[in-house]
Amino acid sequence: AEGVVRRDRFSGGPARDFLSSLAADERIFGADLAVDRAHVVMLAECDIVDDETAGAILGALDEIEAAGHDALPEGEDVHEAIETAVIDRVGPDGGRMHTARSRNDEVATCIRYRLREDVLGAVEATLALREALAEIADVHTETIMPGYTHLQPAQPTTVAQWALSYESAVARDTARLFDAFDRLDASPLGAAAFAGTPFEIDRERTAELLGFSSVLSNATDAVAGRDVLLETTQALSTLATTLSGLAEDLIVFANRGFVDLADDYSSTSSIMPQKVNPDTLELVRAVAGDAAAGVQGLTTTLKGLPRAYNRDLQRATPHVWETVDAVTEATEVAAGAAATADWNAESLSAAAGEGFSTATGVADLLAAKGVPFRTAHEIVAEAAAAAEEPGVSIREALADAAVAHLDAPLDEFVASGALADALDPESSVVSRDSTGGPAPEAVADQLAAVSSSIEAD
Ligand code: ARG
Repeated sequence: AEGVVRRDRFSGGPARDFLSSLAADERIFGADLAVDRAHVVMLAECDIVDDETAGAILGALDEIEAAGHDALPEGEDVHEAIETAVIDRVGPDGGRMHTARSRNDEVATCIRYRLREDVLGAVEATLALREALAEIADVHTETIMPGYTHLQPAQPTTVAQWALSYESAVARDTARLFDAFDRLDASPLGAAAFAGTPFEIDRERTAELLGFSSVLSNATDAVAGRDVLLETTQALSTLATTLSGLAEDLIVFANRGFVDLADDYSSTSSIMPQKVNPDTLELVRAVAGDAAAGVQGLTTTLKGLPRAYNRDLQRATPHVWETVDAVTEATEVAAGAAATADWNAESLSAAAGEGFSTATGVADLLAAKGVPFRTAHEIVAEAAAAAEEPGVSIREALADAAVAHLDAPLDEFVASGALADALDPESSVVSRDSTGGPAPEAVADQLAAVSSSIEAD
C-alpha cells in the first residue's frame, strides 16, 4: 500500500511521459546507486539514520542493482523510481534515504560521477589515436609526400610531419578533456534543493566515498551549475573538429592513391562492384557536426536559466551523453583507420615534385645567396610561369628571370649542385631542419617529445 501512495505522487496526467526522464536516466542508473549508497553510509555515520535502517536500505539497493534498470517501477526519473523500489522492499523506513538531500543535488552528482568515467574513456581514445599517429610518424620519417595549402601542391613534406601535426592537435584535445575532468571532479551532494539542510551531514565524506577530489561549496551553484557540462561538450567538439580534418585528409589521400584504407575501414557499393569507399572516415568527419550540435543544444538550453533548479536541466543532460559517445567512437575509429592504412611511398614521392613544389626552396636558396627574398620570390614566380611553356627548362627560365630582375645571369647559380638539391623534393625536405620542420632529424626530435608526452598523459 505504501508503494501505491508513492507511485501516485507521480501522476503527470497526459504529460506523464513528457515529464519522465526514466528511460534516458538508464545512463545514470549505476551512478544513482553509488550516490544512494554513499549518502546512506554518511547518514548512518552521522547518526541521522540508525544502522539497522541503513543496512536494510543498502540491502535493498543491492537487490535493485541486480534486478536492473528495466525492473524499476515507474517514476519521474531514476532517483524517484529507485526510492520507490527501496520503499517497496524496506517499508516506510526506506524513505529515510532521502533525508538531507534533494533530487537536485542527487542528479547533479550522478551526472558528474558518470561523466567523469566517460571523459576518461574519451581521453583513452585520444591516447590510442596519438599512439597510432606517432607510430605512422616513426615508420615514415623519410616518406616524402606533397604538402598542400588551399589543397594545391605547396611544398614537399613527409608523412611523419603530417602525422605529427595531428598528434600535436589531439594532444591539446587530451589536455582540454583533462581540464574538464578536473572541474567535473567535485561533489554537489548535500547541497539539497539549493539551500543546504539543517541536518548535520558530512559532505566531505560523501565526496570521498564517491571518489570526488573536493566538495562544490556553494549549495546553489552545486545544483544549478552546468557550465562544466558545456566545457566538456566544447572540448569534445574541438576534438571532433580535429578528427574531421584528419578524416578529410585521409579521404583526399585515398582518392589520389596515396593511401589504401584497410578493408575493415572501407565500404563497397551495392551497385558498383569495383568501389572501395572511405565511409568510416566520412562518418568520422560528420561527427564534428553532431558534436557542434551538442554544444549548440546545450548552450541554448542553459542560456538565461535563473537560479536555482529548473526542469530545463533534465533536457540539457542528454546532449552531453550523445556527444561523448559519438566523439569517443569517432576517435577510436579514426585511430583504427589511420593505424591500418597503407601508404604508397612511390605515388607520394612522384606527386611530391609536381606543380613545382620546390619553388620556395629555390627562392630560399637565392635569398641565402644575398638576393632580397621578395626579389627572389618574383624571379622564381616568373620562371615557374615561363617553364610551363613546352620546351623551356626551369634552369633556362631562372636564368632569364634573373637577368630581368638583377641584371646578372647568375650562370653559376643556375648550374650549381645547390640548385639541383633545391629542386629535388627529397633534398628539399632534408634542408628544412629548423625546429618543428619536416627534415628527418627535426622530426626525430619531435617524435621523442611526443612519446614522452603520450607516456605522461
Ligand atoms: N530528473 C531531473 C533532472 O534530470 C532531476 C529531478 C529534479 N526535479 C525537480 N522537480 N526538482 O534534472
